Amino acid sequence: MISVAIMGHGVVGSGVAEIITTHKNKLFSSIGEEVYIKHILDLREFPDSPLADRFTKNFDDILNDVEVRVVAEVMGGINPAYDYTKKLLKAGKSVVTSNKELVAAKGAELLAIAKENNANFLFEASVGGGIPIIRPMNQCLVANNVKEVAGILNGTTNFILTKMIDEGMNFDTALKLAQDLGFAERNPEADVEGHDACRKICILASLAFGKHVYPDNVHTEGITKITLDDVKYASAYKSVIKLIGKVKILDDGKMDILVAPMLIPKKSQLANIDYEFNGIMVRGDCTGDVVFYGKGAGKLPTASAVVADIIDCCKHLKTRKYLFWADGTNDSILPYNESETAVYLRLSAESKDNAIAKAKEVFGDVTVIEPKEEIAQTVAVVTPVLKIQEIESKASALESSGINVLSKIRIGDL
Ligand code: HSE
Repeated sequence: MISVAIMGHGVVGSGVAEIITTHKNKLFSSIGEEVYIKHILDLREFPDSPLADRFTKNFDDILNDVEVRVVAEVMGGINPAYDYTKKLLKAGKSVVTSNKELVAAKGAELLAIAKENNANFLFEASVGGGIPIIRPMNQCLVANNVKEVAGILNGTTNFILTKMIDEGMNFDTALKLAQDLGFAERNPEADVEGHDACRKICILASLAFGKHVYPDNVHTEGITKITLDDVKYASAYKSVIKLIGKVKILDDGKMDILVAPMLIPKKSQLANIDYEFNGIMVRGDCTGDVVFYGKGAGKLPTASAVVADIIDCCKHLKTRKYLFWADGTNDSILPYNESETAVYLRLSAESKDNAIAKAKEVFGDVTVIEPKEEIAQTVAVVTPVLKIQEIESKASALESSGINVLSKIRIGDL
């Protein structure tokens, strides 16, 4: 019998306890031993839980229990998860986590501590919920030089955008629905402002390129400024709007990395990934594009990835799985202003002809988008590919000439 502990009994934590309990025989046949949940750490009371006798409010009950070999950290947030994880790894216990905030902020350090203490620190559930992505990148695709990773990495925002696109639902109603379904973070600002997707692309970039990428160094935009008019114009441009996390390695070794809403062609592999589903494309120099697709949020999909890591740790109690990246620095990232893209602009237009003429004057050869039904007082164009700093200065010039730039969304070449 292998004793494990779970820290946190929220959406994911309760799912982990449920899967270990309901899939007891499956776990036994995979490991050859029973997995026993010895402690569950949570400050709340759960008197009606079938595991009520295992709950503790005292972290030391887990830390000091020599029988506990593997701990699932599913509390979320940096504190106290960081402190607890460090202490557990230093005590030689393996830790698995779904906590993308923790891995994105402290991954390099925690992986180094795990290595020093011959323990494992695994985090399959931190990106893509139930979709296998960390292990495939670290094992199956490891012979490739990865050139680019891009994907829809946040279920909540993808759910909101799908509801806006398919049903014309407004933003607030769609967000409330995502919260009720348990996809959204405790503070949904992390979802809608792009921070959650940023943490996930940082984890994937660190894994792909071997150096820790910190979220503070990555340009991040959310979806709060997207309107139903943008959705209509995007459709007329044979595109959909998706929140994309993307990292590309450039010839000089710098990473072009960002999170932003993008218009992506309807024929793109990522365009039909809807609702809480995530899709991640990994471009390897040997494999070409490999795409991973599945439920990126929700109790059981995410918990299944946590339990898979628990199983892996149980199978490797005496050995370390090789999963490692070094600390990183800001100079490995291309400054955002220097990245290049075409951009969709929605412009205020008392006279459409005048707005289009001004846009052409400033940007040169723009493509004018013709929506199916006329959208009053606005016009939309797509600029040529330019550096972001040029886009910004030309957009300012347009504003100075009396044309308001109402929306600015990148065109994703995916
Ligand atoms: N809030 C996250 C999402 C949960 O919506 O994708 C899964 O990481």
